[in-house]
Amino acid sequence: MRAALLEEIHGELTIHDVRLTDIGPNEVLVNTVACGLCHSDLHFIEGTLPQRLPTLLGHEAAGIVEAVGEDVTEFKPGDHVVGCLNAHCYRCSQCIGGRTHLCENRLALQKRANGTSRVRFGDEEVFQLAGLGGFGEMMLAHESGLTKVPKELPLELGALLGCAVITGVGAVFNSARLQAGSTVAVVGIGGVGLNIVQGASLAGAERIIAVDLNPDKLELAKTFGATDCVNAGETDAVEAVTELTKGGADVSFEAIGLAATAKQAFQMIRPGGMTYLVGVSPAGTDYGFAGNEMVLKGRGVQGVYMGSNYFKRDVPMLANLYLQGRLKLDELVSAKISLDQINEGFAAMQAGTVARSVVIF
Ligand code: APR
Ligand code: ZN
Repeated sequence: MRAALLEEIHGELTIHDVRLTDIGPNEVLVNTVACGLCHSDLHFIEGTLPQRLPTLLGHEAAGIVEAVGEDVTEFKPGDHVVGCLNAHCYRCSQCIGGRTHLCENRLALQKRANGTSRVRFGDEEVFQLAGLGGFGEMMLAHESGLTKVPKELPLELGALLGCAVITGVGAVFNSARLQAGSTVAVVGIGGVGLNIVQGASLAGAERIIAVDLNPDKLELAKTFGATDCVNAGETDAVEAVTELTKGGADVSFEAIGLAATAKQAFQMIRPGGMTYLVGVSPAGTDYGFAGNEMVLKGRGVQGVYMGSNYFKRDVPMLANLYLQGRLKLDELVSAKISLDQINEGFAAMQAGTVARSVVIF
């Protein structure tokens, strides 16, 4: 199959013919229909998150089941599926505690049972990001790393549920468990931030303040439910949010992954408020919060991994919200591109001009 490989840090992705291994007993072979380009993929390309090379990136993917392993009962050929970043075992203490997104065995489940990769380029093993590798024409994944979605859901939109949407909406529903009537600030209005905005809107927030540097992103945020916008390039974002909320937001979310914006997000909550850190930062980043700014003001900071998702529960729920007309997905797609245009798609992300580019196979 054709796949876009990362062979060197800072390099362009290169299209090669690669091979998938035979289907293991608990694995599912999927014809990839669509895969979104996420900022986390860019972290690997830029080397800010280290990764083994060569790597097959792409983790926001959806497709149609082609074949299943002998022990798989949940899926059959023809099923429409969305890929999950965190395959899970249902047996470790995290899974038993209901935190399948933190499964202790997820890295093992992203490989074959014998510990080798499911993707080969010649004789070489190719690292399969998230056990999916959505930038290839086919995905071979562990059954726990997929979930079925209704066939009425267009798969190019279903793909987005697997990362941007679940990360953003999940941060609101699962981590913040946002109370209706809350005041919310969202710093960073990319694919993830837009979904925090629409999650807060679905949860009944009274005020949703979008903060970004890009006026186009702020306009888009309004259509996703933002009640106010702050251009952090023109005004002091902390002062602006503090003034709009008369003393600080109840809850803030950071969806970029920078120390400076994480600090801003923390400084714009009121005493007793909470900041949720959603953006993935370059390896080694130190956010450096002052302890007494938390203790004496009863404020907190919580990291949120992948919207604290329970994938097989949350993704079908989000699909149904879309089919009922209550969740925006079409508006997240700024560009549909071919696999051959993938480097242009990442260049557009670096330029900050798009919400999501989606590769259509
Ligand atoms: N202040 C405000 N906004 C900023 C700033 C800043 N200093 N710097 C960047 N931004 C905005 C950009 O204008 C853009 O709209 O942050 C947004 C980031 O969006 P994307 O690049 O589309 O990133 P996204 O895919 O949403 O991911 C955000 O979450 O999943 C993680 O790894 C991912 O760390 C990344 C984060
Ligand atoms: Zn992602």
